[in-house]
Parts: sequence; C-alpha cells; structure tokens
Amino acid sequence: MQDFVDSALARIHAATTADELESVRVEVLGRKGVIADLSKDMGKLAPAERAERGKFINTAKQALESAWEGRKSGFERVALAARLDAEWLDLTVPAPGRKPGSLHPITQIQWEIEDLFRSLGFAVLDGPEVETEHHNFDALNIPADHPARDMQDTFWLEGGHLLRTHTSPVQVRGMEKLGPPLRMIAPGRVFRNESVDASHEHTFYQLEGMMIDRNVSVGNLIYFMKTLLGAIFHREVTVRLRPGFFPFVEPGFELDIRCLICGGDGCPVCKQSGWVELLPCGLVNPKVLRASGIDPAEWNGFAFGLGLTRLVMMRYAIGDIRWLQSGDLRFLGQF
Ligand code: DAH
Repeated sequence: MQDFVDSALARIHAATTADELESVRVEVLGRKGVIADLSKDMGKLAPAERAERGKFINTAKQALESAWEGRKSGFERVALAARLDAEWLDLTVPAPGRKPGSLHPITQIQWEIEDLFRSLGFAVLDGPEVETEHHNFDALNIPADHPARDMQDTFWLEGGHLLRTHTSPVQVRGMEKLGPPLRMIAPGRVFRNESVDASHEHTFYQLEGMMIDRNVSVGNLIYFMKTLLGAIFHREVTVRLRPGFFPFVEPGFELDIRCLICGGDGCPVCKQSGWVELLPCGLVNPKVLRASGIDPAEWNGFAFGLGLTRLVMMRYAIGDIRWLQSGDLRFLGQF
C-alpha cells in the first residue's frame, strides 16, 4: 500500500499539465478512487487492524492532498503569470475619448465662402425652400411659356408654390427687401425633378451671389470671381468667360477655370480641353431689376450661381453625388 502511495506522490510531482494532475486526483482521491476503496471495507476488519488502516489512510490522504494542492497552485501561478503577461496594459496611453463629430463637407465649403464674402462686405441671406412661382421664375424673366422653365423641372405644390429650383429667387428677395446698393450671397438647398444617378440628385446645394451698384462692369464680376476661386482652391486661378444663356442676366456667361489638375495641357478631368466649366454668371438683366422696383438707368450689377455640391465633389474628388446625402458615417468621417 505504501508503494501505491509513493507512486501516486511521484505521479503528482511529475505531472506537467493541470489536466494530467486532475486525472491523478480522480484516480487516487476521487469518490471512486483508490483511497475511497480502501476506506470502504474498513468495517470488516478487526478493531486493531481497523485503527491501523484508518491511521494509514489519513496520513496517506493528507500527504496526497497537500502534494496535489501544492502542485495545483503551482500550475495556477504559471497560468496567471502567462495571462498577466498577455494582458499587459500601458496606463500612460491617453484614453481614446469620444470621437468628435465634423461638419458635412458642403457645410464646410459654404462657411468658408460665407466668411470670404462677409469680409468683402456682402450680406449672407436666406430664402425659403418652398417658393412662389413669381420669385422662382417670373421675377427672374422666366415667364410661364419660356423654354428655360423646362430645363428646371420642379416639384409643384399646392397654391402655385413649388420647391425652388435654384437659389436665384433669393436675389429677388434681397432686392425687394434691401434695395440698392446691394451685396449679397445666398447659400441653400435646391430641388429639381431629376432622375438620380452618379452626377444628378433631386436635391443639391447652390450659392447665389449678387452685387448691385452704380457702374458695375464685367471687370468687377471677374475680380470677385477670381477672388472667390482663389480662396476656394488656395491658389491663383486663370479664368475665361464664354457666352451662356440665362434669362436673368444679359450678357450671360459660363465662367471656366484653367484645369487645376493638368494646368491646361489636357487630362481626363477637363476632358482634354484644359478648361473646367465652373460657374454661370452675368450682368443682371434690366428686366430683373425693374421687376423688383430698381431703376436700371441708375443701377446695374452682376450675379452668379455656384454649384456647392459640384464644388465639393471637385475639391475632394468624390465620384458619386449620392454619397453626400447617404448619411453614411464611413463617408462623412473622412471630412
Ligand atoms: N440659377 C442658375 C441655375 O441654377 C444659375 C445661375 C446662372 C445663377 C447665372 C446666376 C447667374 O446668378 O447669373 O441654373
């Protein structure tokens, strides 16, 4: 019996894993183990023998249990040390904190342009998105039968109201409310009845500008446009004007900038032309001044319409307009 105890002790000491140790425990000290077996038939022994057997069992049990416990806590210490090693923490690393939000890229560019024009003495005006037919069309020299109305198909509402197709009606509101001389811009959301694809949205953003004073010339227009574009692109830009038709300006222009990607040599962005069409503008049509009670014999001015959505897409090389209104934080988090 002593041999058995000795070999069990040896096995306990020799165990190399916690599992191995556990199987020795079950075999020797478990409910159906050898020690339990030895205790079972004690009742059949003579009293003297029984006392001796009892003593032996107690001594053996104690020796085995303490060997087992010592070994077990050894394994536990090793396991804990390994775990602590793996879970090493650097308490000097700053806490990540809450991730700050950011402004939508359209808002960012809008605010930049607002700051610039405020510094040039322009008021920043706001107009309603639900407009009257008068402000959106008629007062801008686009009467009901004018083909320009077809180019700006919109969503008609009850009572002759509509979702504004451009920010130009805020020109009319500015002239009505403030009168000449007038320097204003009006950023905002506009709507068109368009089928949506990578470059068309039914909802997008423009920024309108208007200056009315005495003796305003195309030279003044070019000066302000170059100042605007230089501030947006952070460098001097070369511009050219081509004739463009908009009923509310006369003459009307399409203003192009020399391609900022290739410098004018030709590349895919400027479709090999060296120029990128950027904003329509012109000298305010006298009919528009008159419709808002301003005498064109005394006052004149320029106006321009900037596609904010398009500008953002150009600045950040965004290939699909739909991203801008997706609300997807993976997209928005980049700005
Ligand atoms: N409102 C025009 C549009 O959305 C853009 C425009 C063209 C605005 C010429 C202007 C302008 O102020 O002078 O297509």
